[in-house]
Amino acid sequence: MQDNALVRAWLRAFARAVEEGEERLTALDSAIGDGDHGVNMRRGTSHVHRMLVRDGTPAAMGQLLEETGALLRTHVGGASGVLYGGTFQAMGAALLVRRAGLAHLGDALDAGLAAIVRLGAADPGDKTMVDAFAPAVRAFREVGARGGTMGAAVTAAAAAAEAGARSTIPMQARKGRASYLGHRSIGHLDPGAASTEMLFKSLAEEVAGGPAPAVACGRQGSRRS
Ligand SMILES: Nc1ncnc2c1ncn2[C@@H]1O[C@H](COP(=O)(O)OP(=O)(O)O)[C@@H](O)[C@H]1O
Ligand SMILES: [Mg+2]
Repeated sequence: MQDNALVRAWLRAFARAVEEGEERLTALDSAIGDGDHGVNMRRGTSHVHRMLVRDGTPAAMGQLLEETGALLRTHVGGASGVLYGGTFQAMGAALLVRRAGLAHLGDALDAGLAAIVRLGAADPGDKTMVDAFAPAVRAFREVGARGGTMGAAVTAAAAAAEAGARSTIPMQARKGRASYLGHRSIGHLDPGAASTEMLFKSLAEEVAGGPAPAVACGRQGSRRS
């Protein structure tokens, strides 16, 4: 599968995961927020899905991710709209600047995480999507540094995102709406961390589980042909 097709498949899989997980995200956000994370994300990713099936979709991977970011920023709303919008726009920009193939996904993920931190100013342990996103990017990089394949990197990233999301349960929220609850936010999984887990699992499903051969990742990685 070509890089662009793979990114499209990732975005479609993410939209599907959000659709299937909408009620769960809503329930999580009802416990420690205002209960709109599921519907917010579903609204945003359904616009992304429509963009993917529409004619005239930007062909280049970087453009596709930037367009996704713009749609999420506009249609998700709430804190997560700004953050998901910003992260996808940054991932797209990173790939456009480098005119890079998917072998450079690690650089895009770094840029995506940096955007979330720049926009939301959350530290690890604040009980936000950062607690799933940051370990996922780290795990991806570690596999890349060992010379591992793209498939192994995205699989490790998905597992780290899942563990990271789970790790938010005992945390007290220090950012976002859940922080208003103080210690009463303890004992609940952060909804944004749960949607971030969906993002990385969708990527792993498409790259590792799909028909595409694994490729080396990292700056020196070979381009998928
Ligand atoms: N400052 C922040 N930095 C990182 N993530 C944040 C921040 N504020 C909120 N979030 C994430 O956004 C999620 C809530 O999203 P959502 O419900 O869509 O927004 P809102 O809180 O505006 O209703 C949280 O679970 C958390 O993961
Ligand atoms: Mg909310």
